[in-house]
Amino acid sequence: MLFSFLVTSSLALAAKALQKCKCLPGDPCFPSAAKWNTLSSSLSQPLITNQTPLGSVCYRSSSNFNAGACSSVQKIEAGADFRVSVPNAVQWVNWEELPSATNNTILGCPFDPQGPNVTCHQGRVPSYVVNVTRIEDIVETIKFASAHNLHLVVKNTGHENLGRPFGVGSVELFTHNMQGSNFTDSFVPKGAPHGTPGAYAVTVEPGVQWGPLYELADAKNRTVVGGIGAGGTVGAGGGWPAGGGHSILSPFYGLGVDNILQFTVVLPSGSHVTTNKYENTDLFWALRGGGGPSFGVITSTTYRTHPNIPYTAAFYVATANSSDTFLALAELFNTHHNAIADSGWAGFWPFNNNTLYLTLLAQGSPPVNASSNATLESFYAASAAVPGVNVTLNLTVAYPTFFSWYHDNFLDSSLGFGYNYSVGDATGIRIAVSSWLVPRDLFDSHPADLAKAWQGIGNARPFMVGGGAVAATDPDSAAVTPAFRTMISDIGATGTWDENATPEEIQAVRQTVSDQIEPLRQLGPIPAGGQYINEPDYIEKNWQGAYWGDHYPRLLKIKKAIDPNDLFIVYKGVNSEAWDEQVVCKTV
Ligand SMILES: Cc1cc2nc3c(=O)[nH]c(=O)nc-3n(C[C@H](O)[C@H](O)[C@H](O)COP(=O)(O)OP(=O)(O)OC[C@H]3O[C@@H](n4cnc5c(N)ncnc54)[C@H](O)[C@@H]3O)c2cc1C
Ligand SMILES: *[C@@H]1O[C@H](CO)[C@@H](O)[C@H](O)[C@H]1NC(C)=O
Ligand SMILES: *[C@@H]1O[C@H](CO)[C@@H](O)[C@H](O)[C@H]1NC(C)=O
Ligand SMILES: *[C@@H]1O[C@H](CO)[C@@H](O)[C@H](O)[C@H]1NC(C)=O
Ligand SMILES: *[C@@H]1O[C@H](CO)[C@@H](O)[C@H](O)[C@H]1NC(C)=O
Ligand SMILES: *[C@@H]1O[C@H](CO)[C@@H](O)[C@H](O)[C@H]1NC(C)=O
Ligand SMILES: *[C@@H]1O[C@H](CO)[C@@H](O)[C@H](O)[C@H]1NC(C)=O
Ligand SMILES: *[C@@H]1O[C@H](CO)[C@@H](O)[C@H](O)[C@H]1NC(C)=O
Ligand SMILES: *[C@@H]1O[C@H](CO)[C@@H](O)[C@H](O)[C@H]1NC(C)=O
Ligand SMILES: *[C@@H]1O[C@H](CO)[C@@H](O)[C@H](O)[C@H]1NC(C)=O
Ligand SMILES: *[C@@H]1O[C@H](CO)[C@@H](O)[C@H](O)[C@H]1NC(C)=O
Ligand SMILES: *[C@@H]1O[C@H](CO)[C@@H](O)[C@H](O)[C@H]1NC(C)=O
Ligand SMILES: *[C@@H]1O[C@H](CO)[C@@H](O)[C@H](O)[C@H]1NC(C)=O
Repeated sequence: MLFSFLVTSSLALAAKALQKCKCLPGDPCFPSAAKWNTLSSSLSQPLITNQTPLGSVCYRSSSNFNAGACSSVQKIEAGADFRVSVPNAVQWVNWEELPSATNNTILGCPFDPQGPNVTCHQGRVPSYVVNVTRIEDIVETIKFASAHNLHLVVKNTGHENLGRPFGVGSVELFTHNMQGSNFTDSFVPKGAPHGTPGAYAVTVEPGVQWGPLYELADAKNRTVVGGIGAGGTVGAGGGWPAGGGHSILSPFYGLGVDNILQFTVVLPSGSHVTTNKYENTDLFWALRGGGGPSFGVITSTTYRTHPNIPYTAAFYVATANSSDTFLALAELFNTHHNAIADSGWAGFWPFNNNTLYLTLLAQGSPPVNASSNATLESFYAASAAVPGVNVTLNLTVAYPTFFSWYHDNFLDSSLGFGYNYSVGDATGIRIAVSSWLVPRDLFDSHPADLAKAWQGIGNARPFMVGGGAVAATDPDSAAVTPAFRTMISDIGATGTWDENATPEEIQAVRQTVSDQIEPLRQLGPIPAGGQYINEPDYIEKNWQGAYWGDHYPRLLKIKKAIDPNDLFIVYKGVNSEAWDEQVVCKTV
């Protein structure tokens, strides 16, 4: 009797222990082929099973080995648009790979296998893919994944920096092919009181990307606040808005999330709902900065649009003849930084190799703010007077529209000036990033300490995206960290490694990048400072505080109500403190 009680309870415990993990291919709980077939028959496109990594065609040991296909894919695999368009790649190759649990190697599928017996490893590439073209595809997949306790992931463009669009043994919702967009001059959120005036807006499905959307908006003579990168491949309706969305236009019009009038979303329960300031308001708050896909799959995002006005761009490059001279130049820039932003400039100020670049944008041509010119000229003149500093470019260009500036500097960069973003935005590589939202006051109070911090960053891409309309918005109106409301520049740092790096070498690069930001963490600690969730540090310890400040407890409460079984759990996402790094098993 006693014996049998013990057996029963230890079996129950074992069963419970099993339930703590997601059900992966090969596990007894994993759905049979027949069950997958049933799911497939409910989808708009054939279910993709046994998906292999991009490089698998290059391996003699692979069933799909094909030397011709290998050499074709080798030629295009590094292209950002190509990596967006296929379900078996993300932008950063390291997230397709996985450290071995048993030896000191990285299991991946590089394009240059040595010898016939080398294996292509699945790594973190999902083996099942739902090629989403309509909302019902998402609903059916969510119900299926929920019923079978599967590891469900969402890949849109794959630009994310912690590997969250992929996962070990996962099933992928591939949203790239949802490409609809719709402009209107009279958008009224669902559930708004009768008589609410219509707004200029655009509604986008998740697969729409910023480059094409800017062009469509320009054709409608409107402008949208969106992400800025070479090629325009970042998505407009997935991770960017879910992470908060910062833009060169943010100082004029607010963060991406401050411009969102409505989302539609499929919840972990499988229901498809509308959320805005009138309906499902907790969800609306959480989705605006809480991070994708923690609260469900966004099926449409409606952004306010703005008038299509002219812009003035300023391009500047200065080289310092030594690191000491760079320190002096950097400190000088810091003392001018807030004044430059306050007088109407936004933009990038990358630096590397003792060279400082400015790529700035002001509204109007000439700038609408009469102080814009003088503030910048004052920095230029002072910088040229620093012994050892050579101002090699100092150019002001009038652009008739935002899109013309974007086109010339980010789509066809042969028409651009100064820092070359086509070179800076390379993809198909292995990368670690970090960033810090620096409280604006530090630029006035600690310009020398900040300059020393800049000196420690090898390849920096600071982005002036705060102040102005960002600072004027109620910090508690959206989930995004309140630190956004008191910063001006987001300081980003990156480090890379190659396919032969060992796990220790990779960890060392991640540590280096994190250490580069450390002085900023010390100078502007949480909650005044913070980290941009779309530029996350892999080893950030207090990620909850860094991403969300004092908004985290409310986010966690909403997460537990909406996704009680953690169907959508991702590394360093809301409630992931209870999961292992690959978010396969619960740890508490
Ligand atoms: C070259 C470059 C330039 C960038 N420029 C900027 C910039 O100017 N401003 C800025 O703010 N950020 C910028 N970013 C960062 C970018 O915003 C993030 O990488 C963002 O997460 C990308 O979202 P995505 O939908 O395009 O990509 P994905 O990697 O596919 O998705 C990102 C995350 O969102 C989830 N997700 C995707 N689709 C959905 C959906 N429909 N519903 C719910 N969750 C979803 C994914 O699971 C993943 O966790 C840049 C990145 C790069 C590489
Ligand atoms: C390392 O371990 C993986 C399994 O985790 C195995 O496939 C691979 O062959 C091993 N590599 C070496 C060099 O032992
Ligand atoms: C590959 O494996 C086969 C079969 O095990 C073996 O005969 C052959 O020698 C191996 N080739 C190499 C280059 O290791
Ligand atoms: C997904 O479906 C679309 C629409 O039918 C199709 O064009 C595309 O090739 C499919 N993608 C994959 C990877 O099967
Ligand atoms: C575009 O928006 C209008 C007005 O909101 C709506 O009636 C129409 O169905 C939408 N079209 C698409 C393709 O979404
Ligand atoms: C485009 O919009 C701008 C700003 O509202 C306006 O000045 C301009 O006349 C418009 N152009 C066209 C062709 O309608
Ligand atoms: C114009 O710039 C000055 C500082 O140079 C600033 O104080 C003022 O607020 C700006 N005006 C507007 C409308 O932004
Ligand atoms: C810095 O200079 C070195 C040596 O000239 C060069 O190899 C490197 O690419 C430069 N770094 C950047 C980010 O331009
Ligand atoms: C300021 O105005 C002068 C005169 O119009 C112009 O030459 C210069 O390029 C402007 N400077 C900036 C930074 O816009
Ligand atoms: C920048 O250019 C303007 C006009 O071309 C010139 O008057 C000014 O001296 C330059 N400033 C610096 C610092 O080179
Ligand atoms: C940099 O330029 C300054 C001023 O011309 C000069 O005094 C200094 O020696 C130079 N340093 C180097 C390393 O060339
Ligand atoms: C400044 O840079 C320009 C362009 O690279 C170069 O021609 C010039 O000699 C440099 N001047 C000094 C003082 O180094
Ligand atoms: C920037 O780099 C791209 C790609 O290498 C090149 O095509 C373009 O001409 C460059 N632009 C400038 C202004 O040098």
